[in-house]
Amino acid sequence: MSEKKKIILDVDTGTDDAVAIMTAYLEPEIDLLAVCTVAGNKPLYNTTENTLRVRDVLQADFPIYRGCETSMVSTLLPSRHAVIHGTRTKVEGMKEDVNMHTDFLDLPASKGEVEKENAVFFYVKTLMESDGDITIVPVGPMTNLAMAMRVEPKICSKIKEIVLMGGGYNRTNTSSAAEFNIWFDPEAAQIVMESGVPIRMVPLDATHQACINTDEVKKLQAMGNPSAAAAASFIAHRIFAYSQLQPMERLDSAPVHDALAVCAVAHPQVLKDVRLSRVDIDISGGFADGQTILDPRTFTDKPRNVNFAFGADRDFFADWMLNLLATAAK
Ligand code: RIB
Ligand code: CA
Repeated sequence: MSEKKKIILDVDTGTDDAVAIMTAYLEPEIDLLAVCTVAGNKPLYNTTENTLRVRDVLQADFPIYRGCETSMVSTLLPSRHAVIHGTRTKVEGMKEDVNMHTDFLDLPASKGEVEKENAVFFYVKTLMESDGDITIVPVGPMTNLAMAMRVEPKICSKIKEIVLMGGGYNRTNTSSAAEFNIWFDPEAAQIVMESGVPIRMVPLDATHQACINTDEVKKLQAMGNPSAAAAASFIAHRIFAYSQLQPMERLDSAPVHDALAVCAVAHPQVLKDVRLSRVDIDISGGFADGQTILDPRTFTDKPRNVNFAFGADRDFFADWMLNLLATAAK
């Protein structure tokens, strides 16, 4: 087997982040060095507690570092000061709110502790001391990583690759123009886009092609281990929420966005139609705030900076997820 890929996973644990943490920990090709938490789907306290709960159900011991509890600057702008946690919960005609993510994951309260060091300083120390062999996998707002890049720009030359879940070219979710992770902290995302680090972007265009369905939820439920059972309940919840908020082609299915980024680290072939593109983020604070601006022209104004995945292999992803979760501790 080739050498394990060292990764730091950066999460705003919600339901799909939880599955990403599980699969990153269980994937034999991945060495999960640490998990960093950030505000996004829910406030930092919640996303950190949820991450601790997932570590408990895995019976794992990877370190967890708390990161930033607000985006870098976006809440300062009047046009955005009302930035709320989590994606929209109501569409026209809907009687009641539907939350994609519950405040706390339906798991026992955590028993563990986070590390003392803040995630931002953990990034700087760990990356500067590294051999340049660490992949960063942000699957929430990129506040922690962008702040670390501002504190010590030298880390950019020490990051092997960034494989991020975020953005969308023909797909959006949190607004008519933007995907949630980017929208929540657009300035952080643009700092990462300009960092010069090799980037693979796993956007909604890819994750929406890799939905997990109720037949697969049933297989997870039948596995007889607590992690698979938890993943089944999280995905079942997502299937209901997506049916109300953003129905997928197969109505009894839902994307598990963040886990697809993890799969792409270990198995790049899961991503399809990957094109080296010029990508920037709209930070104007207007209607298109947080939009993924991908330059479709042959001759772009600025150097191409992102390997953007326009598709994904759904069956490969589903088989990978189920095979891994079947190996979780009983
Ligand atoms: O738009 C999907 C992303 O937003 C996922 O990372 C989900 O967890 C939310 O953070
Ligand atoms: Ca997330």
